[in-house]
Amino acid sequence: MLDIETQINSIMAADITGSVIQTHGTTINAVGFPAPVGSIALIDRPGSTALRAEVIGFKENLTILYPYGDISGVRRGNRVRIQRTIPWLRVGDNLLGRVIDAEGNAIDGLPQPLLEDRIVCQHDAPDPCSRPRIDSILSTGVRAIDGMFTCGKGQRLGIFAGSGVGKSVTLGMMARYTDADVIVIGLIGERGREVNDFIERDLGKAGLAKSVVVVSTSNDPALLRVRAPMTTLAIAEYFRDQGKDVLVLMDSLTRFAMAQREIGLSAGEPPTTRGYPPSVFAMLPKLVERAGRAERGSITAFFTVLVEGDDMNDPIGDTVRGLLDGHLWLSRKLSTRGHYPAIDPIESISRLMPDICDPVHLKASRAMRKSLAIYLDNEDLISIGAYRAGSNPEIDESIKMRPEIDDYLRQAVEEKAELPETVRRIRTLMLGEQVETPPAAAVETPVRRGNDKSGPDKDGNTTTNATANNRITNDRIARAAAT
Ligand SMILES: Nc1ncnc2c1ncn2[C@@H]1O[C@H](COP(=O)(O)OP(=O)(O)O)[C@@H](O)[C@H]1O
Ligand SMILES: [Mg+2]
Repeated sequence: MLDIETQINSIMAADITGSVIQTHGTTINAVGFPAPVGSIALIDRPGSTALRAEVIGFKENLTILYPYGDISGVRRGNRVRIQRTIPWLRVGDNLLGRVIDAEGNAIDGLPQPLLEDRIVCQHDAPDPCSRPRIDSILSTGVRAIDGMFTCGKGQRLGIFAGSGVGKSVTLGMMARYTDADVIVIGLIGERGREVNDFIERDLGKAGLAKSVVVVSTSNDPALLRVRAPMTTLAIAEYFRDQGKDVLVLMDSLTRFAMAQREIGLSAGEPPTTRGYPPSVFAMLPKLVERAGRAERGSITAFFTVLVEGDDMNDPIGDTVRGLLDGHLWLSRKLSTRGHYPAIDPIESISRLMPDICDPVHLKASRAMRKSLAIYLDNEDLISIGAYRAGSNPEIDESIKMRPEIDDYLRQAVEEKAELPETVRRIRTLMLGEQVETPPAAAVETPVRRGNDKSGPDKDGNTTTNATANNRITNDRIARAAAT
């Protein structure tokens, strides 16, 4: 909510006016217009509606304005006047189930919702020292995530993927099946058709009911594509402050960075790696840090990052990876094989998993990763029939486990994976009946013994994995085992 101090501080003389002197690329420059950066101005166009623009900087005696729409009709000498000094947003519980734009206007064809509170979209992340540790699990309802890359309440993860590998479908599943109280979804820079597909097909009525969807499509002005993620987080913060566990799904951070690149370059910033100006790298952490756990409530966030040509090292991906507590890598190889969700079990990681999972679950997930790593390292040999069964017990085991692990990691779109069952299945599958129940305090989910899933053939698996007596050492296994 806006406190009195913020409101008073934001009061400025309403009669600040100036005039248009020139355009520069997509920006408009005004003289005699001392409005602060971030404020919103109106440029009067005779014979047409006033054009809204945001102050993005100054240069000598010029104020640089970035327009919210098409600049046609603007001419030298047009009057520029201030409309608002800080962008704020109306919020309230009636946002649930609604689709809005970056400025909070309803765009789902229904009347504007009645909203009781006002908040500022843009502000700093909370002080890191005031944040409690993340110590409990947020179930996403997606088995591969909950089982192998368990996510904590307040954790921030990336989803790295190329186009068409199943991002939207996976986000839709998470929105429908998670046990979070509220979901806030930011759709940034997609085409209009993709947005409709997502809302109708992937999210569906059930997902939408406890979600707020903030949309800024690719044909919106760059300012709105930059604003939409802030609006998304501001709404999430509003619900978090009510003590709720909020899940933020942001698709995509790359398109946000691209929009900020447009603005930054127009404002005269120098381009750096791949043309991204420094402001992009300053804004990413500001945005991402707003998610996290608070004294009351939490914001768990998944940010998607587009990877062109499946190149893992683009500057946005690199920066974002350093800011997050893990990432899921969606693999084109898996999706072309029809393995969905196409989460690469070796390349993905959830860094907080050891803090939030019970030790048996953790051990089972490491065993699964190791078994897969062994299989993948020998896949070429196995597939051409050059591997002779019996020559290496670990490889034999990984071949035997492979179909069941695949079966575990796959999930149909309409299937919800309940967390206790997800954990029970991975424990039984990977550790069989040999699991020693750890000290009671550490265990959240009891092992149901004597389950049908564990055949006697898998019994040896636990011991081989646990003793780490492997003869095959290489990169991949080392990496798998290190996590
Ligand atoms: N879990 C899944 N089960 C079955 N098919 C899927 C699944 N996820 C994705 N697909 C297929 O992949 C296509 C593209 O997925 P989508 O999520 O739209 O990709 P992206 O958002 O990454 O571009 C979908 O239309 C669907 O056919
Ligand atoms: Mg998509």
